[in-house]
Amino acid sequence: MTEQHRPIRSFVLRQGRISEAQQRAYEQHQARYVIDYAPQLLNLDVAFGRQAPKILEIGFGMGGATAHIAAEHPENDYLGIEVHTPGVGALMRLLDAGNIDNTRIIQHDAVEVLNHMIAPASLDGIHIYFPDPWPKKRHHKRRLIQPPLVALLASRLKPGGYLHLATDWQEYAEWMLEVLRGEPQLKNTAEDYAPKPDYRPETKFERRGINLGHGVWDLVFRRV
Ligand SMILES: C[S@@+](CC[C@H](N)C(=O)[O-])C[C@H]1O[C@@H](n2cnc3c(N)ncnc32)[C@H](O)[C@@H]1O
Repeated sequence: MTEQHRPIRSFVLRQGRISEAQQRAYEQHQARYVIDYAPQLLNLDVAFGRQAPKILEIGFGMGGATAHIAAEHPENDYLGIEVHTPGVGALMRLLDAGNIDNTRIIQHDAVEVLNHMIAPASLDGIHIYFPDPWPKKRHHKRRLIQPPLVALLASRLKPGGYLHLATDWQEYAEWMLEVLRGEPQLKNTAEDYAPKPDYRPETKFERRGINLGHGVWDLVFRRV
């Protein structure tokens, strides 16, 4: 079965509550920041209006870390993918408030975006921070990090491009390490887990995990 027909998704769409401010931001800033999903290749340089390193992020949540990284690195362009509407509104507010112009958003399942919109060997980096751990064994199949997806991610990286994952769930960290080590297109930058790269700030879910007494594991692999 190909990825685009994958029936099991890594998220459950609970639209939850969108605050008035998020809704207003959504309507006001959509045209500036949102790229509509379409099952056709996206020319990233055209989408961002320049040639610059392109970093993709999957599941940015409320977007705090995304906006922080983008503001600190104006030399890069960031494409954030998230399915959760309040999070998309929240990130747009942060981008507007910080006058951050090197970030764009696609609100859609990242697996489909990767399959249809992102060209092979077109990304300089990929960030996936604190993806849902789906702790119950019968839910492990919903985990985003699976061998076929990791092969797809690796194929979208340029040679030398990096894949940076972080989790606060030890058993998922071990699973990630095993899956990434098993992908022949990728090479670990560390012996096993990597020191936290300086550019990654603490994320919202990371703080939640730390408050629960969890550890944090970063993994940084490069495309060979
Ligand atoms: C646990 S949250 C982490 C959010 C953020 N990275 C952080 O650390 O605070 C995981 C996020 O990934 C999003 N997500 C999960 N699967 C996704 C997919 N296939 N495509 C896009 N977003 C996805 C969820 O909606 C959720 O907001």
